[in-house]
Amino acid sequence: MCSIIGYLGLNQAAPIIVKGLKRMEYRGYDSVGVATFTNKQILVRKGVGKVIEVNKTVRLDELSGTVGIGHTRWATHGMVTDANAHPHPSSSGEVAIVHNGIITNHEELKKDLQQKGYAFKSQTDSEVIANLLQYHYDKTRNIKQSMVNTVADLRGDYAFVAVFEDGTLSAARLHEPLLIGIGKEGYFISSDVLGFVEHTDEVIYLDNREFVIISSGGIQIFDFDSNPVHHQITKVSKEFADVYKGEFAHFTLKEISEQPRTIINAGNNTKLELDLATDFIRHAKTLYITGSGTSYNAALVAKFLFSKYAKIKIEPIISSEVHFSPDIFEQQSILIALSQSGESADVLEAVNIAKKAGAKIISIVNIMTSSLAQLSSISIGLGCGPEIGVAATKSFTAQLAILYKIVDKICEGAVGLDLTKVSEAIKKSLSDDSKIQEIAKKLKNVSDIYILGRGIHYPIALESSLKLKELTYIHAEGLPGGELKHGPLALMDSNTYVIMINPDDSTYSDTLTSAREIKARGAKVIGISDKPSDVYDYWVEIPKVDESMYPLVEIIPVQLLAYYAAVEKETDPDYPRNLAKSVTVK
Ligand code: AGP
Ligand code: GLU
Repeated sequence: MCSIIGYLGLNQAAPIIVKGLKRMEYRGYDSVGVATFTNKQILVRKGVGKVIEVNKTVRLDELSGTVGIGHTRWATHGMVTDANAHPHPSSSGEVAIVHNGIITNHEELKKDLQQKGYAFKSQTDSEVIANLLQYHYDKTRNIKQSMVNTVADLRGDYAFVAVFEDGTLSAARLHEPLLIGIGKEGYFISSDVLGFVEHTDEVIYLDNREFVIISSGGIQIFDFDSNPVHHQITKVSKEFADVYKGEFAHFTLKEISEQPRTIINAGNNTKLELDLATDFIRHAKTLYITGSGTSYNAALVAKFLFSKYAKIKIEPIISSEVHFSPDIFEQQSILIALSQSGESADVLEAVNIAKKAGAKIISIVNIMTSSLAQLSSISIGLGCGPEIGVAATKSFTAQLAILYKIVDKICEGAVGLDLTKVSEAIKKSLSDDSKIQEIAKKLKNVSDIYILGRGIHYPIALESSLKLKELTYIHAEGLPGGELKHGPLALMDSNTYVIMINPDDSTYSDTLTSAREIKARGAKVIGISDKPSDVYDYWVEIPKVDESMYPLVEIIPVQLLAYYAAVEKETDPDYPRNLAKSVTVK
């Protein structure tokens, strides 16, 4: 969600910052801005829209100066307007800031600062940081002390970077990601390694409740109580630099197409951790699994896999709901946390609640340097490479592949896990998607789609509906097949499309019966199955695989359908409106 970046070095800051912001676009945002320090003053340019558009109109990259900060905003407080875009200068202009997160006590701080004579130009919560820093700086003329005093006053979650009137940068972190890049020709500070990975792979991860002061003399890190802190420099994987679409029209299509490889790779770079986690899970007193959005849908699949094959009870719980039932965890509970980004605020909160109760955390996460990985006892890596498309695709199947691997180890092979065969099956589905493209054209003007599945296919129906919603903006609802007659049947008519997730397994005939009931009400039926039927208006064939493996195969055509329907509707499949890749606010 939104990004911040700062640069101090030998080169012009603005072009580096604009490029960094572009690389972090996938995180989602609505406006953009840059501030640089030059000739003893801070210059700010900003506006609503994509980096490329705003840059065209106000030439962000032409601001001069070798020190600067930049931001893409995902509005939480205040409308999406030019004035609310970051950076925000203080009222005297001696400090400017960019901020990710939410300042919960901004109203009282603002009132207090206004009474002290500091003026505000935006409706954001973030602007108080600029004026608060200015207030403490006016009193102390000392950057370190101003930072310590400011973070002591602020409540909420934040990462912010400030540029001061002497060209010093300072940045603080509380529950929002922030890392320092150490390059040969300058320092970087950013919410995401993609902000600067083309310049350096040497990184320092700031911990919560720490701030850094960056000047031409070097960097100094302190905790919020003003004590110096020493951190090791880590090297980040070069794979993060690989964020190009190549021959593909969109990242989403590229990422869908990578799945034959990514399901095989899943967890391979953390094999020891996978073994260790399996052992812990085997001996857990109580077992929970959590995630948000797609990651939660993977958690629902896990429930079926664990109970059917490993005979283990695991309770899925939506991360944002954990806050309301914190008492479920106990000593020796295990919480498996699923997250692509490892930065979803809801997931981190769930994990912190469970840890407080004495539970052990096993995470299954793509970004191994994320906050979630750092909070966990054991972290298993999805290893699927950067996922740029906001809609999760390859990270979902990588999560499933790892869950399959764990269950297969516990039940000593009873799952019949054969990822090579599944990989071949996915390749086959991907090799000819002409039928899916044809159906996507039909969906263009449809207003409601229902997706039905039973048993383990119900979570796949939910994931399918999430993909369709995100990519096409069509109302889509996943339902357990049996629930149809308990209400949703009232919605079926000739304008409705229904997708049946119906592989040839024990759910097959019941799901087919539901399809007939739907068809009798005039709705159009799309069957995702390895077995044809006269009831389907459109049959999307999936390859036959072992019964346990269907979830990995049946999600692929729906991902493709959602993607092609988005292309038909001319929505942007990579960056759906109003959404962010990693949702770092609650
Ligand atoms: C998935 O397509 C969505 N973009 C969203 O639901 C996502 O899965 C959710 O925000 C969780 O993200 P995470 O896996 O990075 O924690
Ligand atoms: N809360 C701030 C705002 O609405 C920052 C949002 C963000 O993280 O981009 O401007």
